[in-house]
Amino acid sequence: MWRKIFGSGNKTSVDREETVPFELTVDRASMPRHIAIVMDGNGRWAKSQGKSRSAGHEEGARTLKRIVRAASDMGVEVLTVYAFSTENWKRPKLEVDFLLKLFDSFLEKELAEMHAEQVRLHFIGRRDRFTERFQQRMADAEQLMAQNTGIHFNLAANYGSQDEILRAVRSIAERAAAGEIAPEEIDEEFFSNALDTAGDPPVDLFIRTSGDLRLSNFLLWQSAYAELYFTETHWPDFTAEELARAIQDFAGRSRRFGGLDAEE
Ligand code: FPP
Repeated sequence: MWRKIFGSGNKTSVDREETVPFELTVDRASMPRHIAIVMDGNGRWAKSQGKSRSAGHEEGARTLKRIVRAASDMGVEVLTVYAFSTENWKRPKLEVDFLLKLFDSFLEKELAEMHAEQVRLHFIGRRDRFTERFQQRMADAEQLMAQNTGIHFNLAANYGSQDEILRAVRSIAERAAAGEIAPEEIDEEFFSNALDTAGDPPVDLFIRTSGDLRLSNFLLWQSAYAELYFTETHWPDFTAEELARAIQDFAGRSRRFGGLDAEE
């Protein structure tokens, strides 16, 4: 079980069974509203432990559960994680099948608890390559949690940012060709709302675990002004404490969005 948050005001302290306790001292206005995570390194973690890649993914799923709760406890509004990319189908069939099964059992095992904690789950990415049964499961989970008031948890499955942008462009072009919208109406807000993350604020903090320094086709439009945080930690070892460190680091950065600091 996950423990509840304690502390008040702008200083929060969370004590969790699975991780060392940590403290987060960030005032509300400096908190990231939307955090994106590339959960990389399950395979390297497994290798370092002499375990199978599957064991690495299973451990990664346990980490994900802890991090959703930690982010929610910390007051993050939106958490979007990269679970499976449009390019991951290139992996050996055995690994792909294992991952798909793991997503399915994650939904089955964790849904009730997430729902009870007011998590609002949403899937981003192309669904049509999944089985009918899994597509139905995704839709049922979203419907069940649609009115929840807690953290908005986006799970990217068969997701690629370029694919998402092209799907949005095509649907806008079709509407324009049908005379439903005028080209002048297509501004940044309009386009953002045609993406799978419609309604979410842009990504403030983009985290990638396991040492590689790239974006890997994840949330390219949404991360236009995101602050980047790279860590050597493999995803299965990523803790709430490190999430707090990333947030603390974010809060200390100067975000100018192309402008100047107030004193400049
Ligand atoms: C990257 O590690 C991870 C993935 C491609 C899959 C992400 C999946 C999880 C974190 C499992 C849990 C997710 C859910 C939704 C239950 P990698 O295999 O590329 O690691 P490597 O680069 O070290 O080989």
